[in-house]
Amino acid sequence: MSKLLIEGNRKLNGIVSIQGSKNSVLPILAASVLCSGKCILHNCPNLLDVDFSIKILEYLGAIVIKDGNDLLIDTSTIEKYDIPDYLMKEMRSSIIFLGAILSRLKRAKLFFPGGCELGPRPIDFHLNAFRQMGAIINEEGCALNCYANKRLNGTQIDLPLPSVGATENIMIVATLANGITIINNAAREPEICDLARFLNACGAKIFGAGESLLAIEGVKKLYGTEHSIIPDRIVASTFMSSAAITGGEILLKNVVPEHLHSVISVFEEMGCEIDSLGKEMNFKSPKRLKSIKKVVTKPYPGFPTDTQAILLAVSSIAQGESTFIESIFKNRFGYTNELLKFGANIDLIGKSAVVNGTPKLFGANVKAFDLRGAASLIIAALGAFGNSEIQGLKHLDRGYENIEEKLSNLGAIIKRV
Ligand code: EPU
Repeated sequence: MSKLLIEGNRKLNGIVSIQGSKNSVLPILAASVLCSGKCILHNCPNLLDVDFSIKILEYLGAIVIKDGNDLLIDTSTIEKYDIPDYLMKEMRSSIIFLGAILSRLKRAKLFFPGGCELGPRPIDFHLNAFRQMGAIINEEGCALNCYANKRLNGTQIDLPLPSVGATENIMIVATLANGITIINNAAREPEICDLARFLNACGAKIFGAGESLLAIEGVKKLYGTEHSIIPDRIVASTFMSSAAITGGEILLKNVVPEHLHSVISVFEEMGCEIDSLGKEMNFKSPKRLKSIKKVVTKPYPGFPTDTQAILLAVSSIAQGESTFIESIFKNRFGYTNELLKFGANIDLIGKSAVVNGTPKLFGANVKAFDLRGAASLIIAALGAFGNSEIQGLKHLDRGYENIEEKLSNLGAIIKRV
């Protein structure tokens, strides 16, 4: 079992290029099932979750060729309509294949998906929307047996919450449905816009991506296309946090600063200086970080839940008290138990975490239990005095490409053993 060894308290300085977005590439890989031609994707991060998606595509019968950060996908040979339990369990995003398979093969047999343990993660919005469009879905234990007797019908879908996954699944299914589908209260994340750009380049007619009201006019066929995945805003926040906790200054390349608006405001409140120019951002931390009054996680354009653990680690050495309120997932403070081992001072009160900044953290032996929790532990270890060991790297590898190499290039002392 591999672990990371980190010798902390080294200022990070230098240039880092940000990988393509995990949460963008995963639904795009699922959507490629709908295409009748070949797709070429650029800027695909090398991640475990991408490998799982490729395994699903290959299981279904597609041909996928990987060349560095480029993928060539030919889904014309797909024949299977089921995904076995062992592949579904690997990640939450496997559920996005449901819409694509059902739409293409009029039949889908899947299992309830896995993914990070962040509290209950139901898929009722996805299933209700498909049923509204005419799909027959039988839930048999953990299995989902789905049928569409004919082309599904466009309709109006009112989402109870702006769910990212449900918006993606409905967009994908609606693309080849009969007539117009309206999604009210749609998610507005940049990853939704990237999926819409990909599908529209394949011939879909999706209007309003990035707004709460999305309209999709069904078309008969989608073609192959060439598409470049957007930069990963959560990974960018992770490198900014790594620089912040070590008192460093870094230049981030391949970022979209507008996607980071809410995160940049919080870093500025902590005293960091951020200058953006085009796809580059210079990040400079102050001598001592200031606390954050209150961060409430919200759907985009609000502060992302995926950045909560990452910023909380930084606030543990800020001067004063910072409050984090998690409003998206029920159980997303699990990693804080491990942060306490570095000497962080954190009180959990219901949906809130109150952090009393301490001047110093100290190296610790810790274990990650989810992806962003893993990133948070690395950040704490980078800022801590002394040596740390981090286990549970399978979670980290789901979302971060070559993180130890990139941190080493910035001056961190970090190695995987
Ligand atoms: N929800 C339901 N029913 C549903 C769907 C969602 O009740 O059918 C609830 C969820 O339980 C949650 C809320 O709605 O409380 C929002 O969930 P959402 O569907 O938006 O999340 P997701 O699609 O499962 C994606 C990202 C997550 C990210 C969330 C929120 C991917 C692959 N995952 O998950 O990313 O935290 O949106 O922004 O895109 C990560 O990258 O570490 C990660 C967990």
